[in-house]
Amino acid sequence: MAGRIPQSFIDDLLDRSDIVDIVSARIDLKKAGKSYKACCPFHDEKTPSFTVAQDKQFYYCFGCGAGGNALGFVMAFDRVDFVTAIEMLAGNAGLEVPREAQRDSVQVAKKDNLYDILEQSQQYFRQQLKQHNGAATAVNYLKNRGLSGKVAQQFGIGYAPPGWDNLLKAVGAGDPGKLQLLDEGGMLVTKPEESKQYDRFRHRITFPIRDQRGRTIGFGGRVLDDSTPKYLNSPETPVFHKGRELYGLYEARQKLSNISQLIMVEGYMDVIALAQFGIHNAVATLGTALTADHLQKLFRYTSELVFCFDGDKAGRRAAERSLEVALPQMRDGVSCRFLFLQEGEDPDTLVRKIGPEGFNRQLSRAQPLSEFLFEQLSAGIDCSSADGKARLAKQAAPAINSIPQGVFRQLLLAELAERTGIAAEQLKEYVASHQSPGQRRTAATAPASSHSSSQPPASALPPEYSGHLENDPYADYEFDPSDGGEGDYDAAQQRRQRSKMRLSSAQFVTALLLNHPQLAELVEQRELMQLSADPELKLFLRLLKVVEANPHYKPSNIIAYWMGTHGASEETEQLKKLAAMELLQPPKQAGRDDDQEFLDALRHLQQKLARSQPAGQQIEQLLAVTRASEAQIKQLHKLWLSLSASEADEALKVKIKQYLAEQRANK
Ligand code: UTP
Ligand code: MN
Repeated sequence: MAGRIPQSFIDDLLDRSDIVDIVSARIDLKKAGKSYKACCPFHDEKTPSFTVAQDKQFYYCFGCGAGGNALGFVMAFDRVDFVTAIEMLAGNAGLEVPREAQRDSVQVAKKDNLYDILEQSQQYFRQQLKQHNGAATAVNYLKNRGLSGKVAQQFGIGYAPPGWDNLLKAVGAGDPGKLQLLDEGGMLVTKPEESKQYDRFRHRITFPIRDQRGRTIGFGGRVLDDSTPKYLNSPETPVFHKGRELYGLYEARQKLSNISQLIMVEGYMDVIALAQFGIHNAVATLGTALTADHLQKLFRYTSELVFCFDGDKAGRRAAERSLEVALPQMRDGVSCRFLFLQEGEDPDTLVRKIGPEGFNRQLSRAQPLSEFLFEQLSAGIDCSSADGKARLAKQAAPAINSIPQGVFRQLLLAELAERTGIAAEQLKEYVASHQSPGQRRTAATAPASSHSSSQPPASALPPEYSGHLENDPYADYEFDPSDGGEGDYDAAQQRRQRSKMRLSSAQFVTALLLNHPQLAELVEQRELMQLSADPELKLFLRLLKVVEANPHYKPSNIIAYWMGTHGASEETEQLKKLAAMELLQPPKQAGRDDDQEFLDALRHLQQKLARSQPAGQQIEQLLAVTRASEAQIKQLHKLWLSLSASEADEALKVKIKQYLAEQRANK
């Protein structure tokens, strides 16, 4: 039998095919708003309710519920099986269909192994800081830098001893599989041409870099003297992406339940020194420039960001770059400020000098983004002259254009109007006509302005829905397919389509995750969910695994993946329906984004699960875990508090105590 078709090929094929081309080669499609419409080929109808969304590469019929991606359409319309449909699409694209023996689950398992080997490396470095006979140098270095044992422990600081093969031998243990994992995890340097392989981190203080779930995904390593390079970081690996990770974010979230502000500093030691002085909300990029991904991640946890830069030239340049990256992220409700320290000072040295109160005072004086922006824009311009004002307007136009529509953008326009003496209305037109080519491209693909700017206000929702919101927002998520329509349905059809779909919380989070795979990283605790037998939850967890292994997947890729691995099963159908939900634009509360919707629904789900499962059962399940995560330990503490003084509960308490002691001993 021929091997499996590699998922990467199917992904690529879907990327190259346009569902609009494929459907319109078979039926007559008409453009309607941002999507395409036709009479449904899968049921009998006179008014079109069959919709194709080009941006999602997805079709859906509001009348009969048929839906899917390009492959699914070919399968259903041409009545062919999955493999034939792939061959047909590949033929169209002039591609040969490759075959393989390997399975995708291998990839998922491999990632798990990578996390595991990195955790072992972390434990090894920690242990070396305590046991290695040269550890005194490292400990002294840390002491000299004023680090307390407590904060060193909190950040998991360790020591990579001198020598070429310490980790290699201790964790690699001569096992080729482990060595390969160490290599893929970035812990080794491999030079095949000289057939050499050795430890990447040698004679360095180690800083584990942790992801949102506290898993070690890489390391930073600092020399103990002034040799170079001062810092060494793990390279990019399947689990470590510098452009997305932030040092200190996990630790901040462990300490703070509500983060009203985050401070962006430049280095590992800055984050740690601030934490030692009780300022737990500092994060740093990992020796890379700030990215939009970083900011999007940060704004999930806080609404205010204060950038802290060195006062020197390099610091100024870094601030300018950060400003540019930040502007497109300035949705209403978030803010950025800029703090410039004196030359030669960094947060680490400063907080040690002036203490946390002094540091906080400085923070409160940080410059608002708008002020810094205008300072940048008007540098070298004499804004009192007419010529200077015109130049300022010209300079400002692309910057203001890159800011999302909203109050903040209006305010900046007003400010620009004031500074240039040009009427705000006029400026608005001027600014809009000064888009960079990149901006024009995005504007062209953006949905029509009538429904791009905001979600419908809560009061515009159907009354039955608003009622639901007040009681129990996610108990049963009910939405009305006609709500999100393009406004071009006739009334009779709208009434016909007013058949309600009810979504449970599990289905709701599944639908969101399908359409926004990046939400996966918000899922922290899965212990409770994993214990549940609910098929909807099982589907959610399975989906979570798939999108974690393939973060670039679009909904159409996911459906294709499911068809490939599960065939045209009940589950695949369920997923198709849920993926289409976004086509229908479920009603949301005004101003809420997907992250919040997702997190709230998840919390609700967790609470419901916790309620439905007696504490004793939860505890037993948790105690069965060999190596508990920090989240699991927290959960155990919480459950402990809910126990009574009954004999059975007392027995459980003893068990928990023993377990926690074991866990500590294993660390
Ligand atoms: P700095 O040179 O400002 O170091 O680099 P620092 O944080 O003040 O370090 P200490 O106080 O001397 O220990 C800031 C950040 O830039 C990255 C690291 O992430 C560092 O924390 N960096 C710096 C590197 O990646 N490689 C280097 O060689 C230097
Ligand atoms: Mn420093």
